[in-house]
Amino acid sequence: LPLEGLQSGGAGPLYLKLRQSLEEAILSGKLNHGDALPPERDLADYANISRVTVRKAVDDLVRDGLLVRRHGSGTFVVRPVSRVEQSLSRLTSFTEDMARRGLNTRAEWLERGLFHPSPDEMMTLGLPADALVARLGRLRIADGMPLAIERASISTEFLPDPLAVTSSLYAALDKTRSRPVRAVQRISACNIKDPDASMLGVAVGAAGLSIERVSYLASGRVVEFTRSLYRGDAYDFVAELTLSE
Ligand code: GLP
Repeated sequence: LPLEGLQSGGAGPLYLKLRQSLEEAILSGKLNHGDALPPERDLADYANISRVTVRKAVDDLVRDGLLVRRHGSGTFVVRPVSRVEQSLSRLTSFTEDMARRGLNTRAEWLERGLFHPSPDEMMTLGLPADALVARLGRLRIADGMPLAIERASISTEFLPDPLAVTSSLYAALDKTRSRPVRAVQRISACNIKDPDASMLGVAVGAAGLSIERVSYLASGRVVEFTRSLYRGDAYDFVAELTLSE
């Protein structure tokens, strides 16, 4: 961190100078999303300033959403994302949406395997009680920024081997000729709680969008039942409206 010389360089309150150099380090990417900030005591010693000054600068950045305090574990960097516009009328995959914007996607797997279905899954996917269901739980990351947590359930009829999904679910469904052609999506507002908040690197209670997608084949069979949690600071959902006859 560029903290040397805070005392000598330029006029103005010290806490503002510290605030500014931290802000620059975050926005320029010197500090990464999710990085832990050194303890305030260490920052104060290192920059040779008082802890009160450090506290004031950190408080400011927490208020502006560039840092987040987590009880018992410290203060972490939140790098703001540029908001992504997402059409509400096209049935696309996360990988495709991001590729169109020139972003590379990566997943951290939270769950990937075959399970006994929950009552919800049985009902939505139309599964008998003795069937198995493929579950894919992923933290979805675009150019290093975690954007969403998605938990998809798919009938084994369409996805016999969940390990076959290495990156894109829809690409895997394409291969078994069961890519959905229609979907119903429900979006609701929520506050992001832990552990989701820490996976997404946002403050506990930050605004989120909870999205449920049920998608269908042309035959009307349900392919996918997915519950997603998107960062509220990252998405604008846009729908085109037409006057009905
Ligand atoms: C979106 C949808 C999910 C869908 C996913 C497929 O994120 N909300 O319901 O499962 O796209 O994306 P991919 O093919 O990249 O796995």
